[in-house]
Amino acid sequence: MGPSGALVELSGVGRRYSVGSNEVVALADVSLRVAAEDLVVVLGPSGSGKTTLLNIIGALDSPSEGRVVVAGQDITRASRKELFAFRRHGVSFVFQTFNLFPALTALENVEFGADAAGQDHVREVARCWIASGSPSERLTSPTSCWAASSNGSDRAPLASGNPILLADEPTGELDFQTGIQILELLHAQAHTGRAVLVVTHNREIARVADRVVELSSGHVVRDGPPEGGQLEIADLRW
Ligand SMILES: Nc1ncnc2c1ncn2[C@@H]1O[C@H](COP(=O)(O)OP(=O)(O)OP(=O)(O)O)[C@@H](O)[C@H]1O
Ligand SMILES: [Mg+2]
Repeated sequence: MGPSGALVELSGVGRRYSVGSNEVVALADVSLRVAAEDLVVVLGPSGSGKTTLLNIIGALDSPSEGRVVVAGQDITRASRKELFAFRRHGVSFVFQTFNLFPALTALENVEFGADAAGQDHVREVARCWIASGSPSERLTSPTSCWAASSNGSDRAPLASGNPILLADEPTGELDFQTGIQILELLHAQAHTGRAVLVVTHNREIARVADRVVELSSGHVVRDGPPEGGQLEIADLRW
């Protein structure tokens, strides 16, 4: 944990990208703390910096400025070796898109994650996902793969003991019932002592969180309880 007892601690974090002669500001002066057992929803429109924020917390991307301490480790000062260990044991991702490392195949990418977590069943799930057909089917196939591999009792991508769980639009293209199931699983994860950050652009989904961090053009424009009050997942409609 960081000095404040938070599992995730960002101070003055910015991320700029150069695009030709232009500069895109993806994140600007973001300061944020997330404690164990927090379920935080990161809300914002497309392009507001949600994925950039998650990737920086997960050490898949580095900030242009600021400091990031996750699970007690200053990942802005870590060596490559330390970062490698951090990605294995510090964070778990539930991804919006599939491919992580362009040089690896999709299967190799997920197998990398499986080896990292030491979980054979993750590999099984990976094979099921990747074998499951067309790109459009791919979006809905994870759930059936999870169900097939675990009788619905546990969910492979959520099953590692890593203290931080990061989910980027986990309900994105899923049907309502499946989306609800995933939210329930993420919610339960927070109750096991993890810090859970869930990205969405859906205001209704955001209402199941303890806390909503809202981004607009890379800035945190709101950080507090959900607008309109917190909702039980069972009462959710979208
Ligand atoms: N690799 C990159 N190179 C250049 N610009 C980038 C890159 N990655 C992100 N950006 C820009 O940074 C900004 C934030 O992008 P980000 O992907 O974090 O947004 P987002 O909130 O996740 O959007 P979405 O809801 O569409 O997933 C956008 O303007 C995006 O175009
Ligand atoms: Mg995104």
